[in-house]
Amino acid sequence: MTSRSSSQSSKASKRWSRRQFLARLTSSAGVVVFGVPSFIAGTCHPSPRPNSSNSNDNTNAGQSRESVEEPVPGREPVLTEQTMQEPGVGPEPQASDGGLQEVLLREPTPEIPSKQEPFPEPQRCALTEDNIEGPYYRENAPWKTRLGEANEPGVPLRISGVVMDASCQPIPDAIVDVWQANNKGSYDNDGQNDPPNQAFHMRGRMKTNAKGEYAYDTVVPGRYLNGDTYRPSHIHYKVYAPGYQTLTTQLYFAGDPYIKGDAFVRPSLVITLKGANQSQTGEFSIVLSKKA
Ligand SMILES: [Fe+2]
Repeated sequence: MTSRSSSQSSKASKRWSRRQFLARLTSSAGVVVFGVPSFIAGTCHPSPRPNSSNSNDNTNAGQSRESVEEPVPGREPVLTEQTMQEPGVGPEPQASDGGLQEVLLREPTPEIPSKQEPFPEPQRCALTEDNIEGPYYRENAPWKTRLGEANEPGVPLRISGVVMDASCQPIPDAIVDVWQANNKGSYDNDGQNDPPNQAFHMRGRMKTNAKGEYAYDTVVPGRYLNGDTYRPSHIHYKVYAPGYQTLTTQLYFAGDPYIKGDAFVRPSLVITLKGANQSQTGEFSIVLSKKA
């Protein structure tokens, strides 16, 4: 080996160390290198491997970058993309000899976000649809949870439910005001009971408890003619709560043959009763909208 080739080898060794160092820095998270030629700092493509048996083999460059080459004793390890991208692989970087004007700005190492529990989505309850009030509402119904008489004719029916807000939170002390026809389809103020029944027959108001629950006992309402067709069996509701919009709606029962031809029924207001003809139960929960 001549002195010139020895000098070139030494310089090459120094270049490799510098490139290697810069490559390691640019491949490390949070390190930005300024003033470095892009072919070194940006692409991290090493020069052809010294003593390579095929230094012009550019077609295999991609393959060589994809693999990790085994270090050869006495030879500088060849940098590959994989070794550059994997911290801790390859020799430790050496201090710069000042041959290049480098400004290194070390940014704070970004923290790897720890696995966090997903923030619970607010539970949403669909607002109860409103429905027509009709002509038979009477104000100031008494506070009671049995709408009819103790021996009221008809199929006994118990309705229960929860009054809540759109976040599915119960609303205590909400007022549930209900009214309905008797089992013959007659309201106490529809002209067939004149003067109107002062006992507010088949009507009542109640308040929800601390869990937003309400319940009342009645009988399955009879149908009545509305023009030339019967309205399906139904119970009227008005629901009040401070801070919420008053809801006027109706409750219908699945299986009623007159539901299909009724212009006012909404599917969301139809419930399925349980039980036999001797006694039936149903659940009807109500979701109120907060006042703006
Ligand atoms: Fe009605």
